[in-house]
Amino acid sequence: MKGSLPIIIGIMKPRLYKNLLRVLYILSIAVYIYFLTDGWSFYETPYQERPHMEQRYRNLRPAGFRGHTFGVIGSLMMIFMLLYSARKRMERFQKAGNLSHWLDIHIFFGIMGPLLIVLHTSFKVQGLVAVSFWSMVAVALSGVFGRYLYIQIPRNILGNELSTDELEKINKEMADRLKTDFNLDDELLSIVEESAAPRLAPDAGIAKMLLLLLVNDLSLRFGLRKIPADLAARLEMPPKLLHLLWRRARQRGLLRMRTMLANQVHQLFHYWHVVHKPFAVIMYVIMVIHIAVDVLMGYRWIF
Ligand code: HEM
Repeated sequence: MKGSLPIIIGIMKPRLYKNLLRVLYILSIAVYIYFLTDGWSFYETPYQERPHMEQRYRNLRPAGFRGHTFGVIGSLMMIFMLLYSARKRMERFQKAGNLSHWLDIHIFFGIMGPLLIVLHTSFKVQGLVAVSFWSMVAVALSGVFGRYLYIQIPRNILGNELSTDELEKINKEMADRLKTDFNLDDELLSIVEESAAPRLAPDAGIAKMLLLLLVNDLSLRFGLRKIPADLAARLEMPPKLLHLLWRRARQRGLLRMRTMLANQVHQLFHYWHVVHKPFAVIMYVIMVIHIAVDVLMGYRWIF
């Protein structure tokens, strides 16, 4: 069997990298849950009664040692996540690592930063800074949808979009490999591909298409759609090989679907940017004012 398939973001990333990212998320969420549960008796106490909790109040209120630490680390994460934009746009950073890894960092900080800010607020937001807080929530939640659209646009391992020519080449390469690696003739290949193609209604609108793509994505990831029994019998392969063939055929089907929908997804992604960015700008502007006012008022954390 020949080497591995061309790597396309959203379909495959190196296993070691994916596992490291998973471990990072699991550890961070575990630490977060620890701090959340540890402070819960304070966070659920009505605001007016909190000062009576003396030691907890001193530590967990936004200006307390732990509360302030959450604010500082959360804000730093929110600033560092902008490195993605620098890497994406600035000439001098073009060689600084894969764009897709930078996006993973952006997303990690974009999730953990807001979660830490929630602890920093001790679940109480009011005044001007509440506008920044809710903009942060809006931008982080809309990020999830943006991420979904992002992975629908076929990219190479570096995170750069593939051109139509590159897509055609990869598509052909995938078909050739299906044929040679699994010894399929043209007729069998087209039957396999037809069975593995995403189930999409031809006249469905973009919203329905995206939903169906999501269903197909999930079923590919969790191996939910099994190879039809009659096709499996006809192929006469050992189960492991059959599974690999089916997985690759499903991947090719999804890639073809994404290629077909590329223009519409691009357009939607453009509109998504139009929403995501202004919320981010509002959030950062008020965040800077909030931090400047606090520093001027003498809240210096450990300094
Ligand atoms: C408070 C949290 C967040 C802020 C302030 C923020 C801010 C931004 C900004 C300013 C951009 C534009 C980057 C550029 O094109 O230069 C962006 C892009 C993006 N963000 Fe976020 N984001 C946040 C959270 C998230 C989260 C949680 C996710 C995913 C779950 C996410 C996913 C994305 C994606 C996919 C892009 C588009 C990348 C591209 O077009 O190249 N963001 N974000």
